[in-house]
Amino acid sequence: MTSAPPAAPHAVVVGSGIAGLLTALHAVEHGCRVTLVTKDVLDHANTRFAQGGIAGVMFADDRTDDHVRDTLVAGAGLSDPAAVQVLVDEGPARIRELVALGVAFDRDGEGAFVKGLEAAHSYPRILHAGGDATGTAIEKALVARLRASEVAVIEHAFLVGLVVEQQRVRGIDLLVGETADTTGTRRVVGADAVVLATGGAGELYAHSTNPVVATGDGIAAAIRAGAAVADLEFFQFHPTVLAAGESFLVSEAVRGEGATLIDEGGRRFALDAHPDGELAPRDVVARAIARRMEAQDGRPVLLDATSLGGTDAAARAAFLARRFPTIDRAVRERGLDWAREPIPVTPAAHYLMGGVVTDLVGRTTLPGLYAVGEAARTGVHGANRLASNSLLEGAVFGARAGDAIAADAASGVWPAQPLPLVRSSSLPTETPLPRAYVTTEQRLPGFSRRALQDLMWEHAGLVRDERGLAHAASVIAGWRAQSRAVQAERDFEDENLLLVAEHLVAAALARRQSVGAHFRSDAGHAETTAARQEALAC
Ligand code: SIN
Repeated sequence: MTSAPPAAPHAVVVGSGIAGLLTALHAVEHGCRVTLVTKDVLDHANTRFAQGGIAGVMFADDRTDDHVRDTLVAGAGLSDPAAVQVLVDEGPARIRELVALGVAFDRDGEGAFVKGLEAAHSYPRILHAGGDATGTAIEKALVARLRASEVAVIEHAFLVGLVVEQQRVRGIDLLVGETADTTGTRRVVGADAVVLATGGAGELYAHSTNPVVATGDGIAAAIRAGAAVADLEFFQFHPTVLAAGESFLVSEAVRGEGATLIDEGGRRFALDAHPDGELAPRDVVARAIARRMEAQDGRPVLLDATSLGGTDAAARAAFLARRFPTIDRAVRERGLDWAREPIPVTPAAHYLMGGVVTDLVGRTTLPGLYAVGEAARTGVHGANRLASNSLLEGAVFGARAGDAIAADAASGVWPAQPLPLVRSSSLPTETPLPRAYVTTEQRLPGFSRRALQDLMWEHAGLVRDERGLAHAASVIAGWRAQSRAVQAERDFEDENLLLVAEHLVAAALARRQSVGAHFRSDAGHAETTAARQEALAC
């Protein structure tokens, strides 16, 4: 009598952006049973908002070493060189895989990929699709492939928590329904491997480029389950978001094409901050804008694209509409004509560099738990992510995690050995806040999502100091400690945002030196290209 073959391992992927979709597709290809759950519908992930493109060494005269170096320099010396090497080495294969899956990156008349330049890249190695609709093209192709695969999909399923038994993850606890309040149906899905691909937490801030689904759900679930998180103090602020009507990202690729930043007086100011001016690392440009805005009483600076596409206004309008169709539509919907006049822009929260600590195949410190994409801290971004490396990270490490889950299962050592606990940002409970900063219960403002976003924007945003961070920590602690009766006003997403905010602020308080996206106005700081290169050499 032959015994039945062991059941294929069951992986559950939470999240439907580029990282989650590629994890699921790779795992299913290797024979895993895969379920993908997402809290909205499949294509409502942050990926579809990515405009600029995906970076990769795809041209004969580009060099892997240069992409590695650009990534390390942008990361201000805090990236993990091994992770960066993997990212850059495997990037081209993943881009070719996307092409094979149907992503039509823009090509010139000869059929060659069109090159795009973005900030802090030494070579124009960004591929884009539909001009500025790269994320949408990728999401569409991957969702179509997923729907044609054997991956089971559960939409409108909110991750309430991880099921942990005997110190390993055994599944997820879901709330299935249209909203993240308590009106849905609770359901547990058991799994051999759970992959967090839940994206970032742009909803922490009053101004953000992220969709409202970015509420740090996976990171919060990992923290509650005891997985290590790190680098949460590194939150990237994109320099240029339209400051007219609803926030709308104006891709760095616009500056890559030659648009400049000017203040109200028409003065080009980015060169004061960095020799690369508008194309300096993102954190440098965002802070230069914030400083100019402060000097002009908070009014936005201007992005001048009126020199792109020729001298004739009609030719310029045609160029902008062709090269940046999505942005062009948004600009014109707001009654602005960017072929003729500069448009108002301001920085906004964009990307969380930190997250759940992983190794190079997405394993976390908790057996059975993996993390990929923005939810993960793979180490590639360090203190500041290089432009268009986010889709790349999602593709490279998503595919690696999908492959690793199958390989881990086949190895017989299952679940795979977790990462040793290398580094985790932890709450500094041993060092209580100075009394002067503590907010008394009487003075605790009422909680609302907006109040949290304003608090974070003001005290844990582009520029921080101890006083502001400690105030934020105290208010957040007060909100988190409020009685269940008061908490009934909050939903699961708010709870997740509060938990991630607590860890982010604690990490920002603990890191006393300015580096990359973490800028402490109360600490000495020498943010120069030389300092970044020096950090890199160490
Ligand atoms: C952009 O197009 O400026 C955003 C792309 C990115 O975040 O890398």
